[in-house]
Amino acid sequence: MIILASDHAGYPLKEEIKKFLNSENIIAIDVGCYSREQLDDYPDFAKAGNAKVLEDDRNVGIYICGTGVGMSMVANRNPKIRAALCHNEIFANLARRHNDANVLCLSGRYTSKRKAIKIIKVFLTTEFEGGRHARRLKKYS
Ligand code: RB5
Repeated sequence: MIILASDHAGYPLKEEIKKFLNSENIIAIDVGCYSREQLDDYPDFAKAGNAKVLEDDRNVGIYICGTGVGMSMVANRNPKIRAALCHNEIFANLARRHNDANVLCLSGRYTSKRKAIKIIKVFLTTEFEGGRHARRLKKYS
Protein backbone atom coordinates (compact mmCIF):
# COMPACT_ATOMS: atom_id res chain seq x y z
CA MET A 1 0.00 0.00 0.00
CA ILE A 2 1.13 3.56 -0.68
CA ILE A 3 1.07 6.01 2.23
CA LEU A 4 0.78 9.67 1.21
CA ALA A 5 1.74 12.53 3.51
CA SER A 6 2.21 16.23 2.95
CA ASP A 7 2.11 19.59 4.63
CA HIS A 8 0.25 22.55 3.09
CA ALA A 9 3.13 23.21 0.67
CA GLY A 10 2.98 19.64 -0.62
CA TYR A 11 -0.80 19.37 -0.66
CA PRO A 12 -1.45 20.38 -4.32
CA LEU A 13 1.11 17.89 -5.66
CA LYS A 14 -0.20 15.20 -3.31
CA GLU A 15 -3.68 15.66 -4.75
CA GLU A 16 -2.31 15.20 -8.29
CA ILE A 17 -0.41 12.09 -7.21
CA LYS A 18 -3.56 10.70 -5.62
CA LYS A 19 -5.41 11.11 -8.93
CA PHE A 20 -2.57 9.34 -10.75
CA LEU A 21 -2.50 6.44 -8.28
CA ASN A 22 -6.29 6.09 -8.45
CA SER A 23 -6.13 5.96 -12.24
CA GLU A 24 -3.63 3.09 -11.94
CA ASN A 25 -5.79 1.29 -9.35
CA ILE A 26 -3.03 1.62 -6.78
CA ILE A 27 -4.40 1.82 -3.25
CA ALA A 28 -3.22 4.89 -1.36
CA ILE A 29 -3.85 6.04 2.19
CA ASP A 30 -3.62 9.77 2.83
CA VAL A 31 -2.54 10.69 6.35
CA GLY A 32 -2.91 14.44 5.66
CA CYS A 33 -2.79 17.29 5.44
CA TYR A 34 -6.16 17.94 3.86
CA SER A 35 -5.93 21.58 2.76
CA ARG A 36 -3.39 23.97 1.25
CA GLU A 37 -4.60 26.74 3.55
CA GLN A 38 -3.56 25.14 6.81
CA LEU A 39 -0.60 26.52 8.72
CA ASP A 40 0.52 23.05 9.63
CA ASP A 41 3.89 21.49 10.43
CA TYR A 42 5.45 18.85 8.18
CA PRO A 43 7.01 16.83 11.07
CA ASP A 44 3.50 15.85 12.20
CA PHE A 45 2.73 14.32 8.80
CA ALA A 46 6.13 12.66 8.38
CA LYS A 47 5.59 10.93 11.72
CA ALA A 48 2.02 9.93 10.85
CA GLY A 49 3.28 8.58 7.51
CA ASN A 50 6.07 6.61 9.17
CA ALA A 51 3.65 4.97 11.59
CA LYS A 52 1.50 3.74 8.67
CA VAL A 53 4.45 2.70 6.48
CA LEU A 54 5.81 0.55 9.29
CA GLU A 55 2.55 -1.36 9.65
CA ASP A 56 3.56 -3.59 6.74
CA ASP A 57 6.94 -4.35 5.12
CA ARG A 58 5.40 -3.93 1.67
CA ASN A 59 4.21 -0.39 2.35
CA VAL A 60 5.86 2.53 0.63
CA GLY A 61 5.58 6.19 1.66
CA ILE A 62 5.43 9.26 -0.54
CA TYR A 63 5.94 12.41 1.51
CA ILE A 64 5.81 15.92 0.11
CA CYS A 65 6.62 19.30 1.60
CA GLY A 66 7.84 22.51 -0.03
CA THR A 67 11.32 21.22 -0.78
CA GLY A 68 11.06 17.63 0.43
CA VAL A 69 14.03 18.33 2.70
CA GLY A 70 12.13 18.70 5.97
CA MET A 71 10.04 15.59 5.31
CA SER A 72 13.13 13.51 4.56
CA MET A 73 14.96 14.75 7.66
CA VAL A 74 12.11 13.94 9.99
CA ALA A 75 11.24 10.63 8.30
CA ASN A 76 14.82 9.41 8.61
CA ARG A 77 14.89 9.94 12.36
CA ASN A 78 13.00 6.67 12.58
CA PRO A 79 15.66 3.91 12.22
CA LYS A 80 13.33 1.67 10.22
CA ILE A 81 12.64 4.34 7.61
CA ARG A 82 14.93 4.91 4.63
CA ALA A 83 13.61 8.09 3.05
CA ALA A 84 15.12 9.47 -0.16
CA LEU A 85 14.52 12.94 -1.51
CA CYS A 86 14.48 12.50 -5.29
CA HIS A 87 14.45 15.19 -7.95
CA ASN A 88 14.68 12.88 -10.91
CA GLU A 89 14.23 9.28 -12.08
CA ILE A 90 17.94 8.43 -11.71
CA PHE A 91 17.86 9.21 -8.01
CA ALA A 92 14.63 7.25 -7.60
CA ASN A 93 16.19 4.27 -9.38
CA LEU A 94 19.33 4.33 -7.25
CA ALA A 95 17.46 5.00 -4.02
CA ARG A 96 15.62 1.71 -4.60
CA ARG A 97 18.49 -0.36 -6.06
CA HIS A 98 21.18 0.71 -3.62
CA ASN A 99 19.38 2.05 -0.55
CA ASP A 100 16.16 0.02 -0.50
CA ALA A 101 14.35 3.29 0.21
CA ASN A 102 10.88 2.72 1.65
CA VAL A 103 9.88 6.38 1.52
CA LEU A 104 10.10 8.72 -1.45
CA CYS A 105 10.23 12.43 -0.62
CA LEU A 106 9.28 15.00 -3.23
CA SER A 107 9.29 18.75 -3.48
CA GLY A 108 5.81 20.20 -3.85
CA ARG A 109 7.19 23.56 -4.91
CA TYR A 110 10.02 22.65 -7.27
CA THR A 111 8.98 19.34 -8.84
CA SER A 112 6.24 19.40 -11.48
CA LYS A 113 3.36 16.95 -11.51
CA ARG A 114 4.69 15.39 -14.72
CA LYS A 115 8.17 14.91 -13.26
CA ALA A 116 6.78 13.62 -9.96
CA ILE A 117 4.78 10.93 -11.74
CA LYS A 118 7.85 9.82 -13.70
CA ILE A 119 9.84 9.63 -10.46
CA ILE A 120 7.06 7.67 -8.72
CA LYS A 121 6.78 5.17 -11.57
CA VAL A 122 10.50 4.40 -11.31
CA PHE A 123 10.44 4.27 -7.51
CA LEU A 124 7.53 1.82 -7.43
CA THR A 125 8.92 -0.52 -10.07
CA THR A 126 12.59 -0.75 -9.13
CA GLU A 127 13.83 -3.59 -6.91
CA PHE A 128 16.54 -3.49 -4.27
CA GLU A 129 19.71 -5.18 -5.54
CA GLY A 130 20.79 -6.67 -2.20
CA GLY A 131 24.32 -8.11 -2.07
CA ARG A 132 26.90 -5.52 -1.06
CA HIS A 133 24.14 -2.95 -0.66
CA ALA A 134 22.42 -5.11 1.95
CA ARG A 135 25.72 -5.26 3.88
CA ARG A 136 25.85 -1.47 3.84
CA LEU A 137 22.24 -1.12 4.96
CA LYS A 138 23.09 -3.16 8.06
CA LYS A 139 25.61 -0.46 8.96
CA TYR A 140 23.04 2.35 8.93
CA SER A 141 22.32 2.15 12.65
C1 RB5 B 1 6.85 25.25 4.61
O1 RB5 B 1 6.87 26.60 4.31
C2 RB5 B 1 8.21 24.63 4.24
O2 RB5 B 1 9.19 25.07 5.10
C3 RB5 B 1 8.10 23.12 4.25
O3 RB5 B 1 7.11 22.73 3.39
C4 RB5 B 1 9.34 22.35 3.81
O4 RB5 B 1 9.81 22.79 2.58
C5 RB5 B 1 10.40 22.21 4.80
O5 RB5 B 1 11.43 21.55 4.59
